[in-house]
Amino acid sequence: MPMLDIKNLTLEIDNGTSRVKALDRVNLTIKSGEIRALVGESGSGKSLIVAAISGALPDQFYLTADRMDWNGESLLSMSSEQRREIMRRDIAVVFQNPISALDPSATLGEQLEESIPAELVEGKWFWQRRKSRRKAAISTVHKVGIKHHRNYLNAYPHQIPTDIGQKFMIAMALISQPKLLIVDDPTRGMETTTKTQVLKLLTRLNQTRSLSILFISHDLLAISSMAHTMTVLYCGQSVESGRMKMLRKRPLHPYTKALLDSAPSFRHDLPPKSILPNMDGTIPSLKHVPIGCRLGPRCPRAQKDCVITPAVRRIHDHTYSCHFPLHMEKL
Ligand SMILES: Nc1ncnc2c1ncn2[C@@H]1O[C@H](COP(=O)(O)OP(=O)(O)OP(=O)(O)O)[C@@H](O)[C@H]1O
Ligand code: SF4
Ligand SMILES: [Mg+2]
Repeated sequence: MPMLDIKNLTLEIDNGTSRVKALDRVNLTIKSGEIRALVGESGSGKSLIVAAISGALPDQFYLTADRMDWNGESLLSMSSEQRREIMRRDIAVVFQNPISALDPSATLGEQLEESIPAELVEGKWFWQRRKSRRKAAISTVHKVGIKHHRNYLNAYPHQIPTDIGQKFMIAMALISQPKLLIVDDPTRGMETTTKTQVLKLLTRLNQTRSLSILFISHDLLAISSMAHTMTVLYCGQSVESGRMKMLRKRPLHPYTKALLDSAPSFRHDLPPKSILPNMDGTIPSLKHVPIGCRLGPRCPRAQKDCVITPAVRRIHDHTYSCHFPLHMEKL
């Protein structure tokens, strides 16, 4: 049974005059010990999925789902306390651009220590518990590759460089020893060394602690080096999902292929200085979503049947939604 099991998640946003379907019947599962990548162009709805899982949705957002379960329990029908408890102990989220969410009036050390769940703090007396919190904070910042903890734990958010801030947010997420870590674009803007450190850390945590990870990124090379499975999102719809190796070798959906082809080293046959093959056009605005398959106007394989929304099809653990998939002859 998957740890996180989402089926037909739909999210409508009321923009004052009408409602737009920002997520349309999205499916997503994460098993214990799995690293799943969630990819798609900017505006495809990745961060909305994170918001839906964390339950942090504004009033004008309307969410429905056939299933949204955490370890077999419905997140949608549990009380808000139960849901908060799951987000406090089991699922940790590093939101996109998270540093702005830090409290500017407290030091990083104070904020980190406050995030430690009471049951993980050792000792009976307050000084023992204070020491235990400090120890956990120092060991967690070391774990994420922040070496000179003294310089940073006593600093305020505005006093630290961005790369330290990004690593610190991962430390904040890890300190509660979650079962699932959701990281939304954690390496954007990071220089290569820091990025490599963060990716290695996530891979190590997955291998040594069996931490499950939902890894959202635009960095397809990073994704391919660490993710076991991948879900591809286009304009609020999950268009293809399956094992990373399978998707790289034989993507069935034209959009997955275009995405993979946009990363140069994914193509074995890309001659030097050739123009990157990609799709024409851009992702449509939510107000002007095409009928049927949302990729239709950009898709090189589109035919008249594509005005009918393609159903989800499954071949073993590989799912796709396309009337005219690629590579079918090889399956
Ligand atoms: N609060 C909001 N109100 C109205 N529309 C929103 C809101 N948040 C997101 N959207 C819209 O929902 C769509 C998906 O946005 P989302 O931020 O999830 O994309 P994303 O895939 O995370 O993009 P990126 O890769 O740039 O982070 C976009 O069209 C966006 O404009
Ligand atoms: S259903 Fe049609 S338009 Fe959509 S991806 Fe497949 S071929 Fe392209
Ligand atoms: Mg986003």
